[in-house]
Amino acid sequence: MRVPVVALHVVELRAEESSLAALACELSEDERVRADRFSMPEGRRRFVVGRAMLRRLLAERLGIGAAAIRLAEGAHGKPHLVADTNCTKLALEFNLSHTGDLALIAIGPTEVGVDVESLHRRVDTMAVVRRFFSETERGGFEARPDGNERDQLFFRVWTRKEALVKAVGRGLSCPLSNFTVPLGTLPAGGLLIDCPEETNRKWRLFDVGSREGLDPNFVGAVVTGAEIQSITVGTSHIESHR
Ligand SMILES: CC(C)(COP(=O)(O)OP(=O)(O)OC[C@H]1O[C@@H](n2cnc3c(N)ncnc32)[C@H](O)[C@@H]1OP(=O)(O)O)[C@@H](O)C(=O)NCCC(=O)NCCS
Repeated sequence: MRVPVVALHVVELRAEESSLAALACELSEDERVRADRFSMPEGRRRFVVGRAMLRRLLAERLGIGAAAIRLAEGAHGKPHLVADTNCTKLALEFNLSHTGDLALIAIGPTEVGVDVESLHRRVDTMAVVRRFFSETERGGFEARPDGNERDQLFFRVWTRKEALVKAVGRGLSCPLSNFTVPLGTLPAGGLLIDCPEETNRKWRLFDVGSREGLDPNFVGAVVTGAEIQSITVGTSHIESHR
């Protein structure tokens, strides 16, 4: 029996200016309209490269041409694959997260959510903790002395929470302070967790960090259906991926 696995792709959202027009042609009309709404060229470049890479990776996994990839959005904006114009959902699931020039794209046979943050992002951590962390998470956070370790814990908890609400597909419409993620180190095979919004099933939480080959300036998390026992992590570049 084949063990279900989620593949996590670490993608650099850079491309030569001269290749951007061709990459934009790989997107849907809706995506091109969205790309053209970015006021900053770097925002447009990141969106175009991220979506082109997503389409190539999905096409490769499905064994079809990238032009045949059709995407639609769920009630809370989560993109998913559709098989045809009747919008029948395909069994292959994916999710994407980006920060600056880095994106994580997770693809697998079950619902998946992913989040990545730069450890150098300037955030009013106490305001976010007060608003979005549960009592337990807040207590654990405040018990740590001010400093690097506490900042890292902040992003660790934040990415774990975001990955869960993104797996469920609710995004920030799911009250983040209503549930608690673990604060400590996770086992390599991930940890089973609950989501109060989806009480009929379990989820599995994985960390993504330097141990998984991520640049140590970033931290990430992936949440999958409970049946996933491991994730594979690899790097994908738009220039070398056809
Ligand atoms: C939209 C949201 C789901 C994630 O936003 P985010 O963390 O800013 O951005 P990410 O890069 O991680 O994720 C965005 C991607 O998630 C996907 N997405 C959008 N809505 C989603 C949803 N409801 N569920 C899952 N995925 C979703 C999309 O692919 C989107 O990328 P694209 O449309 O550019 O291709 C939402 O939870 C949000 O707005 N979070 C706020 C983040 C924040 O305030 N952080 C500050 C504290 S450190």
